[in-house]
Amino acid sequence: MEETVREKIERLKKEKDVVILAHYYVDGEVQALADYVGDSFYLSKVATKVTQQNILFCGVQFMGESAKILNPEKNVVMADDFADCPMAHMVTKEKIAEVRAQYDDLAVVCYVNSTAEIKTVSDVCVTSSNAVKVVKNIEAKNIFFVPDNNLGRYVSKMVPEKNFIFHDGFCHVHKSILAENVKAAKEVHPEALVLTHPECTQDVVEMSDFVGSTSEIIDYATNSDHKVFLICTEMGVFYELQQKNPDKKFFSVGHRQFCPNMKKVTLDKVESAIERMDSFVELSEETIEKAAVPLKRMLELAAK
Ligand code: 13P
Ligand code: SF4
Repeated sequence: MEETVREKIERLKKEKDVVILAHYYVDGEVQALADYVGDSFYLSKVATKVTQQNILFCGVQFMGESAKILNPEKNVVMADDFADCPMAHMVTKEKIAEVRAQYDDLAVVCYVNSTAEIKTVSDVCVTSSNAVKVVKNIEAKNIFFVPDNNLGRYVSKMVPEKNFIFHDGFCHVHKSILAENVKAAKEVHPEALVLTHPECTQDVVEMSDFVGSTSEIIDYATNSDHKVFLICTEMGVFYELQQKNPDKKFFSVGHRQFCPNMKKVTLDKVESAIERMDSFVELSEETIEKAAVPLKRMLELAAK
């Protein structure tokens, strides 16, 4: 009998010493065959622990770069080389230098959704699940939070003792979830709890019952006695939400909860990437060395 795509990928994983990491925003059928699925923080921690020589990353460019920076001796291959996060390119080194020149006591806090180049000039990275904790643990009084304005504003509310300087980056997927969409969905499902990613705008965050990263949203829904939820983040999370909670109902609040870059990762592309294993994430030694500093600092401060 002919091998299925799934069986072929399983066979090639063993033959080629490959581990597959996937973010919750990729398609469910890709999540189903990954060895590790999680949010950005979990995946960066996992990347430091895997034993295989080759990492096949099902996600966007900055995630593969982080895996490479934390494991320079391993090969990292993207399932789709063109899957990139637009927000990662929304701040420049020049802008960071300009703000650094204005403050003595400043920490540049860089959301992992940023390029490796931006990480080389940042003091510490954060993800949506550890940003509050990491920023609380930073000594500097002034925080330049890049690139995401919405996450920066959310963190600033949780850490009022710091002085924040915000940048104007955004995630187009989360920004397109409007307060009016949430209001309309609430009218249809008044019993639902609203679970929201902090990349959403402040008005949506304020209407929510819970705010957290993709993993935190999944954990919250799983541990809750509630049965109905409105989900304000990318629709890829519905796969794991439904897997873990077959008896609960999850609804989106609009038709645009769709990240076109995450959705570039398909089963066919995973199959051809694992067959070829030839297009590695390449970063210079200098970039890896400098970008590792804020990423490792994040791992330390988040563990405190
Ligand atoms: P996490 O919730 O996984 O941190 O990330 C959100 C995101 O936008 C990843 O691209
Ligand atoms: Fe980037 Fe938003 Fe897509 Fe995440 S969901 S990869 S932040 S565009």
